[in-house]
Amino acid sequence: MLSVHVDLQERSYDILIEAGMLPRLAEILKRRGLPERLLLVSNPRVFELYGSIVMEGLSDGFSVEEILIADGEQHKNLDTASTIYTALIERQADRSCGLIALGGGVTGDIAGFAAATFLRGIPYIQIPTTLLAQVDSSVGGKTGVNHPLGKNLIGAFHQPHLVCIDPQTLSSLPEREYRSGLYEVIKYGLIRDRRFFEFLESSLDALLKRDPKVLQTVIRRCCEIKAEITSQDEREGGLRRILNLGHTFGHALEAATGYKHLTHGEAVGYGMKAAAALSARLGRLSQEHCHRAALLIDGLGERPSAPVPFADLYQSMQQDKKRSRGALRFVILEAIGEAAVVEAPALEDVEKAWVEAVSGD
Ligand SMILES: NC(=O)c1ccc[n+]([C@@H]2O[C@H](COP(=O)([O-])OP(=O)(O)OC[C@H]3O[C@@H](n4cnc5c(N)ncnc54)[C@H](O)[C@@H]3O)[C@@H](O)[C@H]2O)c1
Ligand SMILES: [Zn+2]
Repeated sequence: MLSVHVDLQERSYDILIEAGMLPRLAEILKRRGLPERLLLVSNPRVFELYGSIVMEGLSDGFSVEEILIADGEQHKNLDTASTIYTALIERQADRSCGLIALGGGVTGDIAGFAAATFLRGIPYIQIPTTLLAQVDSSVGGKTGVNHPLGKNLIGAFHQPHLVCIDPQTLSSLPEREYRSGLYEVIKYGLIRDRRFFEFLESSLDALLKRDPKVLQTVIRRCCEIKAEITSQDEREGGLRRILNLGHTFGHALEAATGYKHLTHGEAVGYGMKAAAALSARLGRLSQEHCHRAALLIDGLGERPSAPVPFADLYQSMQQDKKRSRGALRFVILEAIGEAAVVEAPALEDVEKAWVEAVSGD
């Protein structure tokens, strides 16, 4: 079994990666002294697919009850968190219990938030089942829900006690969801690891076919990079910001298209192309590297078109600007594998980079 350690003093934990690990969960959890009473949060779709494997896998030594929440980003809100609290209270859960988040990033974020806040914090385990959740959202301890006025505005940092990744769960993931996760995979190569980027370039076909060996390598490397970055900067005071490559453009694009037209990953795909173009415009990235970044991003296949005028995009960016105390912040590349953060670049450059990134699409 592959294991990646997230080093955060008393909040340290492991990320375990192995295809077919779910039936063996009891043995794995016992060795780590996890609570014997567990409440599993999932949605009907994922629970139908993997609920019984997980419940049976834990039956030897654990008591597990399920709490099902509605599927979809539109339900990632305080009402859903509240239904989890109600279920926990009705079932007389106490601080000796733990939660399990079984599902994609939405389930992980809400269940993590419930674990962070119920009785001022109980332990939780992540069992991510989308590629995005396996390489990104299940690691790092950011939990939260959306508010009608904006995404992820309410949340807490609460590190999981363990992350169990079974890449076999990806076999049932719809193609579009799978590809959406691959944009975040490319992000790790771009911001931190040129060799990994080159591996992705040469393994793209196998990756698109979900080759188990390639997938395992990819998930491990992404988790290592996220673990390394979040151990150095748990609360996003500096280094962790580079994980937002493509996200200033991407978030604005998602907002400007009403969160309906594109998945998060697809928006980040456009965003990373724009960020690479901006880096080249600012004289920080060579044309060759900019071109290679765009080629790999586009290699994932066609995305829905994004005909958003820059003025609309810029208006949506104001939300990010408020969050970073007035300055619009962009992660840029200095080479493939090296990222930096710039504040308030000339608007003309941002606009031209955007136009360049969406032209030809
Ligand atoms: N906490 C963080 O650090 C962090 C980082 C990135 C993203 N996020 C959050 O993650 C969320 C997006 O996560 P997501 O892309 O996983 O979306 P998601 O959780 O909505 O899952 C996508 C869809 O796939 C289904 N699904 C999940 N696993 C499946 C499987 N194995 N087979 C078939 N279907 C399956 C889900 O039920 C859902 O319908 C966003 O809310 C975003 O804000 C959080
Ligand atoms: Zn993202």
